[in-house]
Amino acid sequence: MRPALKVLRDEHLALSGIAKILKADAKLLAQGKDVDAGLLDDIIVYIQTYTNQIHHPKEEDFLFAVMRLRSADSASMLNRLHQEHEQEAVLIKDLAAAAAAYGQDKAKTRARIAAALSVYGSFLERHITAENEEVFPLAQEILTDADWDEIDAVFILNEDPLVGSGKRHRFEALYQRIMSFGLGPI
Ligand SMILES: [Fe+2]
Ligand SMILES: [Fe+2]
Repeated sequence: MRPALKVLRDEHLALSGIAKILKADAKLLAQGKDVDAGLLDDIIVYIQTYTNQIHHPKEEDFLFAVMRLRSADSASMLNRLHQEHEQEAVLIKDLAAAAAAYGQDKAKTRARIAAALSVYGSFLERHITAENEEVFPLAQEILTDADWDEIDAVFILNEDPLVGSGKRHRFEALYQRIMSFGLGPI
């Protein structure tokens, strides 16, 4: 597998783990139980810092941009995924607001945070699946070796705290929780 695709697949694996945590938390909250608000904060900070500012832009500016050049037919699919990136930024704001309210008053806000977690978790799963199953196979078909060399050179500079053996910063507990689903090693 090309290094750039390996990076994206690893980041998607971490995001799949996050989606699983969010959906599991939504179920607990629906049963009237409480969830780890600190871990929820870590997830929101991770998504806002790495997924929104690095992962999505990297897909759009490098992978999607070259795919558009190589195949005009890819445009409608890539436009849809671009819209999902924009939608994702809105959904994570909703989730952050719900999480802040939950931090203030757990008992009164369980239903709100449960709904936000469930919506966001399902959205994230669908988005990752579409990229894994539709975008990456098409990219492998239509990109040239020279295209990949350029994209790889950018992607291998990447440092994601949930991928590889680099610094996890505040995300060690989140990494361990993702590992507990048997997804890794990432
Ligand atoms: Fe994406
Ligand atoms: Fe992605």
